[in-house]
Amino acid sequence: MASDRQTVDEWKKQLLEQQEKLKTRMSRVKHKIAVISGKGGVGKSTITVNLAVAFAMHGHVNYIGILDADIHGPSDPKILGLSGQRLQVKSTEVFPALGLLGIKVVSIDFLLPDENAPVIWRGPLKMTAIRQFLSDIVWET
Ligand SMILES: Nc1ncnc2c1ncn2[C@@H]1O[C@H](COP(=O)(O)OP(=O)(O)OP(=O)(O)O)[C@@H](O)[C@H]1O
Ligand SMILES: [Mg+2]
Repeated sequence: MASDRQTVDEWKKQLLEQQEKLKTRMSRVKHKIAVISGKGGVGKSTITVNLAVAFAMHGHVNYIGILDADIHGPSDPKILGLSGQRLQVKSTEVFPALGLLGIKVVSIDFLLPDENAPVIWRGPLKMTAIRQFLSDIVWET
């Protein structure tokens, strides 16, 4: 019982630490745009990549990053011709892949053994992955 309590306390502590890290990390990103929908196949990836390229082309080259939060069917890397790239992970820091116009990209695709590997995570695990990405990515490379 005591060790269960200890595990829960430890888990809560880790979650709070991660939340703080996430806040600090995200506060360094000046503008954030969320591209979301409640429906599949409506153009989220197309819009995301086109927005990134448009911003990069209009004075923000090297200052744009994409976090592909699509855990099951990540296609931003494909659209940007970055399939097969890997994320560099050093200690607890994650370094994005680099695309055209210096666009930095983080996607679950860069962590899978191959592009056909299925990801069968459910809601809570997906949120954990996205939270971890948000708290660990070093955008300013
Ligand atoms: N404005 C548009 N007009 C017509 N077709 C479009 C438009 N935007 C995207 N498409 C096409 O619709 C299809 C789905 O687009 P996309 O992959 O960007 O959607 P998505 O919302 O990211 O899908 P998913 O939910 O599967 O991730 C693609 O074939 C894309 O080329
Ligand atoms: Mg998509």
